[in-house]
Amino acid sequence: MSTIDHAATTGRRRVAVVGLGSIGGVIAGALDATGRHDVTACVRHGIARLVVERPDRTIEARPRILTDPAQADIHDWVLLCTKAQDTASSSPWLQRLCGASTHVAVLQNGMGHTERLAPFVGGATVVPTIVYYNGERLAPDRVRYRRASDHDFAVSDDAGGRAFVELLEGTGMQILVSPEFKTMAWRKLLLNAIANPITALTLQRQGVFRREDMGSLVLSALEEAAAVARADGARLADDEALKLRAMLMTFPPDAGTSMYFDRLAGRRSEVDALTGAVIAAGERHQIATPLCRVLLTLMRAADAAPIPGLMEKAK
Ligand SMILES: NC(=O)c1ccc[n+]([C@@H]2O[C@H](COP(=O)([O-])OP(=O)(O)OC[C@H]3O[C@@H](n4cnc5c(N)ncnc54)[C@H](OP(=O)(O)O)[C@@H]3O)[C@@H](O)[C@H]2O)c1
Repeated sequence: MSTIDHAATTGRRRVAVVGLGSIGGVIAGALDATGRHDVTACVRHGIARLVVERPDRTIEARPRILTDPAQADIHDWVLLCTKAQDTASSSPWLQRLCGASTHVAVLQNGMGHTERLAPFVGGATVVPTIVYYNGERLAPDRVRYRRASDHDFAVSDDAGGRAFVELLEGTGMQILVSPEFKTMAWRKLLLNAIANPITALTLQRQGVFRREDMGSLVLSALEEAAAVARADGARLADDEALKLRAMLMTFPPDAGTSMYFDRLAGRRSEVDALTGAVIAAGERHQIATPLCRVLLTLMRAADAAPIPGLMEKAK
């Protein structure tokens, strides 16, 4: 594994960011601020500028804004930053932006990015990433970036991953290039697939994991998902589930998860791309996933019947 901090300058690229939310806003602002690339934001509602609040400084970026896929043409890079369930609705953008030499970096949680994107990107090269930074959308034209771990991204140690590192030179983003990408992706998925629906279903923040009776449920569900991950090729430690449960306890009790906030806001959650991905891999490897199925079924039912006013009640 190697950690790369960016310094050098390389070729100018045309970069399109599809979805200017918490993650897309941060990366669009960071790329635009380097002045190294021509950055286009592909959005549903126009904005005049993009402000990125960082701990060290505030960036005011002015990427080109497009609101109609018909205005888009082929770009060198596309960064797909919508939620996973919005990939299909982003396809008019992807079809216009992708050519045979385009790279499409997927800044989404979940697994199987290459297979999921294949129907939408023609012959373009898909570059899966794991996003570790925390992004928060404060307003349509304002996002906040926080570093949440040693690295902002992980990518695979291959040509696509290294091209992504080169693209981000000068942004200050820390990128881990790892031959263990699959294991890292599964490790992140295990937490998201189990912890996120529990917070959303109970309508409680991460403090819910400190309940004594929650410990054995979380551990059993993590062990179930870890067995699937191992069968899929992830090189997890024997006590991985225990370690992940311990990690959950270190998160601030008042921190929410994206699925918790989606449920409060009455938005459809990413449960199919997260918990559903564990179940799908379990089916491929003939491993039963009864606990994940319970979480998925309950969460789908919750998604289908949003409760008005939850956000106000939670305040
Ligand atoms: N937020 C984090 O800290 C974090 C950390 C790690 C990973 N992730 C992952 O990163 C991915 C993105 O999450 P996020 O938190 O950035 O979500 P988000 O804040 O909800 O942003 C998603 C953006 O996608 C836009 N969008 C949806 N459909 C679109 C379409 N058809 N055309 C153009 N734009 C479209 C939305 O636009 P509208 O404003 O018009 O709805 C929104 O701005 C998810 O997979 C998430 O799990 C997030």
